[in-house]
Amino acid sequence: MADLGSIRTILKTYDQEHLLAWFEELDSSQQSILLAQLDALDFPQIQSWIEQYVLQKPTLEIPTNIQPPQIIPFGGGDNAEAARAQGQELLRAGKVAAFVVAGGQGTRLGFEGPKGCYPATPVTEKPLFRVFAEQINAAQQTYGVSIPWYILTSPINDTATQAHFRQNNFWGLDPANVKFIPQGTLPAVGYDGKLLLGRKYRLAVNPNGHGGSLTALAESGALADMAERGIDYISYFQVDNPLVRVLDPVFLGLVALGDAEAAAKSLSKRDPYEKLGNFCVVDDKTTIIEYSDLPAELAEACNPDGRLKFSAGSIAIHIFRRDFVERITAGGTCLLPIHRADKKVPHIDPATGKRVSPDAPNAVKLELFVFDAMPLAEKTVIYSTSRGEEFSPIKNAEGEDSPATSKHDQVRRYANWLEAAGVAIPRDAMGQIAAAIEISPLFADSPEMLKASLATLPEPLNIHAGDNVYLGSRGQISGK
Ligand code: UTP
Repeated sequence: MADLGSIRTILKTYDQEHLLAWFEELDSSQQSILLAQLDALDFPQIQSWIEQYVLQKPTLEIPTNIQPPQIIPFGGGDNAEAARAQGQELLRAGKVAAFVVAGGQGTRLGFEGPKGCYPATPVTEKPLFRVFAEQINAAQQTYGVSIPWYILTSPINDTATQAHFRQNNFWGLDPANVKFIPQGTLPAVGYDGKLLLGRKYRLAVNPNGHGGSLTALAESGALADMAERGIDYISYFQVDNPLVRVLDPVFLGLVALGDAEAAAKSLSKRDPYEKLGNFCVVDDKTTIIEYSDLPAELAEACNPDGRLKFSAGSIAIHIFRRDFVERITAGGTCLLPIHRADKKVPHIDPATGKRVSPDAPNAVKLELFVFDAMPLAEKTVIYSTSRGEEFSPIKNAEGEDSPATSKHDQVRRYANWLEAAGVAIPRDAMGQIAAAIEISPLFADSPEMLKASLATLPEPLNIHAGDNVYLGSRGQISGK
């Protein structure tokens, strides 16, 4: 680690000497923490980001030649059967890893603890991590293979996340196949270009965005671990969506058949301004343009059939080929661009030494977004999914995209699966489902598997209004 003298010199060069203003007051372990943090910073890089993204608001150049991309319809279109077979073969051959990004701060939900520990399901209130663990477990049983699971945490929630897995015995997964990867952080920068101290002995930092997951895979050795295990495809998803299909054979097969380096699932937007990134093609490259950046005339443009021209919204479900992630993270450089977000960052007031919590944004958070990897790929696949089947994230404590809406959507999905399998679903006078229903992925992780699993129940399933029905690994548990 660099000594105090050389750190002082660097800070002077970059006009950040205030970071040592309280140094003499600190005890020796606090001094070491601060020096280590400062030593790890790449000051020339940070200085250039400050000039580009903090001291000025970067102006976004919207390209003129934006086209809608080609989208493969839900189910897989003409290639559905070939894709399913190919994806199942990849899973059976142990070529696929699951990768969840769970390093976010979850400020909107306001839950104490990592978001993956949030009780998300409608009947048994399983934590999100368990929902994914059961899917991986089910796939391991179906395909007779070990499926490694990589979990992006942050330095803020890594310890609590790992403790949660240990307390729950990894829900039956082999801990040797579950790897936690704390992501990198970036310092918060005040509007005057000065880095902020969160404490007198610690910089205010934030996780470097879900785009930081790709460099974290490289730097943590996870990519090397994948190579050793023979993994070719990384199935990427977010921690907040309990409906996600963690390992989707059709999607995997479409990516392999399309020889794509990177792929994404899309949703048909509800309206021109739904808050989802827009899939576009610019200069032959698949690109996502944020909803706030797409010009109104394009957002509202329609095809002759009246449907939106740019209808495909991004839901942050991807497949990346391992060799693609290796390529774009080679040599320790990250090819993804930086984004700026204005935030309220509590910090030590440089004048008084007191910690202040501002009421209005005072600083810039710098982050990387994973979808910026898409234009770096030689070939991509975009596969449309169904909202009811696969997307109902938990973002906010109340209102849209909240635990209540997500539970409602989970019940609706399970009711649809059951109805398709011939089970009657009770409904009220308004046609709303009148029971709480939950199906464990260990009972059925797809509508196809549900029919076979229902046949194993000792009695046919009858659901009455007011029931709480849970179909778990050992069959049916139902109660009023
Ligand atoms: P969001 O953009 O919803 O952010 O993350 P968030 O931090 O979870 O929640 P808010 O905005 O503070 O309320 C989308 C996904 O990306 C992950 C999150 O954990 C979530 O799965 N993520 C986000 C990271 O892994 N690291 C980050 O730095 C940011």
